[in-house]
Amino acid sequence: MITETGLQEEIERLAASGLRENCLARPLAKVAALTARINRLKKEKNAVVCAHVYQTPDIIYGVGDFIGDSYKLADDSRGTAAEIIIFCGVRFMGETAKILNPGRKVYVPSGNAGCSLSESITASDVRELKARHPGLPVVTYINTSAEVKAEADCIVTSANAEKILKKLYQKNEKLIFIPDRYMGANLAKELGKTPGREMILWQGACVVHEKFDAGGIAVYRRNYPGLAVLAHAECPSAIIDAVDFMGGTGDMLRYIEATNAAGYLLVTECGFGELARIRFPKKNFIAMCRLCPYMKSITLESILDALENPRAELEVTVPPEVASRARKSIEKMFELAA
Ligand code: 13P
Ligand code: SF4
Repeated sequence: MITETGLQEEIERLAASGLRENCLARPLAKVAALTARINRLKKEKNAVVCAHVYQTPDIIYGVGDFIGDSYKLADDSRGTAAEIIIFCGVRFMGETAKILNPGRKVYVPSGNAGCSLSESITASDVRELKARHPGLPVVTYINTSAEVKAEADCIVTSANAEKILKKLYQKNEKLIFIPDRYMGANLAKELGKTPGREMILWQGACVVHEKFDAGGIAVYRRNYPGLAVLAHAECPSAIIDAVDFMGGTGDMLRYIEATNAAGYLLVTECGFGELARIRFPKKNFIAMCRLCPYMKSITLESILDALENPRAELEVTVPPEVASRARKSIEKMFELAA
């Protein structure tokens, strides 16, 4: 039981972190009652919570220990002393944490935290691609299953893809980039490479980012002079051509911090806009947002449930043989991103 004083202290802690009633779907006291129980259980069970920036603010600010994009969360979770990692993100992110921390228990508190990119390709698809293009290095976006990572030479995230691909192109004329066709085309353009010739692509797409409409950006620009428009690298090229900055969520946060635009239009998942408003209370944001149904399948209640009742269906496991091969390509990313 949380005492009256304990609850009041938790409400004050949440308010001090920047959480306000108008960025929550329910009263702060209700959020505090849940976060207080979760935080107490985390201590009792020696657990940490990794929270991706697309999670809701009550999760990020209420119970998150590590907060960030997919690269930062993989890096932060490496070598944690905690026995349990509760991964509030999608399944492939939990798998990456498990591969990097084989001795820890990793739970994703939702059975529905998939990802359309991760589900667009299987290990056998990659083996077929390799057979069709023998000898080419396989670069895999982190949004893939452990089995697909095990077939790759190097993993990238949106935070380091350009840097790593540049290094790989110094030694290779061509390479295979999977599975995001839009991100692949955007990167190929940045690097002056031709998709299909110097960069072999797969047909995967993010269901959230592929549906944004470039026409809407022109309307916002007309109505809000001085607007800086930022889009995630998973958006189609027509969107990227219409924006001022393309990058991953971590890059977008750094861009906002370093600039002073009259306003920012964020072309990405809604959680990012909520986070930006809390992190930069003096700046103005318009979120041209879409919800990721997979990310949003996690709630404070499901986190509490995973801690109170950790069970096989929520636990992330990776067969050791797959994990050891996937780990090599993830380690390659850390080496080349450094
Ligand atoms: P980030 O690495 O930029 O957080 O992207 C992960 C993701 O799934 C975006 O849709
Ligand atoms: Fe996957 Fe897109 Fe959701 Fe990111 S936003 S987890 S890429 S479906």
